[in-house]
Amino acid sequence: DDLCCAVAVDFSAGVYSRLSGRTTCPPGLFFEDDTANRRTAMKIVEIPAGKLNARRFIEEKVQEIAQTVSDGSAITALSGGVDSSVVTVLGHHALGKKLAVWFIDNGLMRQDEPQSVARLFKKFGIQVEILDARSTFFDALKGITDPEQKREAITQTFYKRVFGELVRSRGARHLLQGTILTDVEETVAGIKRQHNVLEQLGIDPQEAFGYGVIEPLVELRKDGVRKVARALGLPEAVYNRMPFPGPALAARVVGEATPERLELARKATAIVESELRKVKAFQYMAILHEDRFAGMRGGKRDFGLQVEVRCWNSVDARTAKPVWLAPPVLKKLARRITEEVPGVVSVTYNIATKPPSTIEAV
Ligand code: XMP
Repeated sequence: DDLCCAVAVDFSAGVYSRLSGRTTCPPGLFFEDDTANRRTAMKIVEIPAGKLNARRFIEEKVQEIAQTVSDGSAITALSGGVDSSVVTVLGHHALGKKLAVWFIDNGLMRQDEPQSVARLFKKFGIQVEILDARSTFFDALKGITDPEQKREAITQTFYKRVFGELVRSRGARHLLQGTILTDVEETVAGIKRQHNVLEQLGIDPQEAFGYGVIEPLVELRKDGVRKVARALGLPEAVYNRMPFPGPALAARVVGEATPERLELARKATAIVESELRKVKAFQYMAILHEDRFAGMRGGKRDFGLQVEVRCWNSVDARTAKPVWLAPPVLKKLARRITEEVPGVVSVTYNIATKPPSTIEAV
């Protein structure tokens, strides 16, 4: 009964080889030659949320993780999002003390995020270590303005440098992570390189980084993951948590993600999140643009910054529509952002749909 999801990429455009740096077909991918258009397709058996038996899924995944890690140990990177939270709890059930849980503070997270995630998981009896990797990420992002290069720099920094060192220092052989089917599809299709997609791009983590990657959620979409989170007994704050991308605020800073520009995006994000919390939307965010705009402050010209607000309705992030926010809400957002975020003279609201837009800006 399971749906078979085939992800197709225009191979002639070289998308696959550009993303993976490989021209041969890795295991799990197969080529299809439809003569007019060479395509590479990858088969993952999707478990749609409606058909998901969450309890059975949990039992199977716990068993699979325990078998794969066997008498070794593993680490998991917890960001506090529903995907990594579910993976952490599954890993905790499967491995207990053989699982080390880390929150990587990459300097790209929202206000107080590392500490609040660690506090929350402590309540479930899961100890979270915080790793301060801010300067490593800032160095890696220095001077990069191209969106895909930014994502690639974040991927390399996470997997090669940060996790590589962590896994080695802990003597672990596996990294558990919460990749979901939508991440794989969009990456393989060349839409957006999701930071956590490796093997599906032909990157063998064992070969490239020196450890294996376990992805228990790769057959699910966001709605399925939320169902598993509920079945695991996680609180609503976790299972209904708004998605937040792996590249974090770097996906919301157009152009170079410097510590200063990230700080402006962080301030704008805090305002948007506090003002839109009561709107029951799938996801909302603030984006810092690169262009400058003529403005005025204190009777003087101010060639300032622009922040774009987005607020989406969606079920599974594959398509999305803007929420038609009420004028008083928009007015308050504009007032607070221009008053509280230094240098901002323009605030816009996105009214396009996905597609052709995507949820994040970068
Ligand atoms: P887009 O921007 O592609 O986003 O329409 C779809 C959903 O995925 C989230 N997103 C990511 N999640 N790693 C992730 O784990 C990433 O690199 C990434 N990029 C986007 C995004 O927030 C939205 O919910």
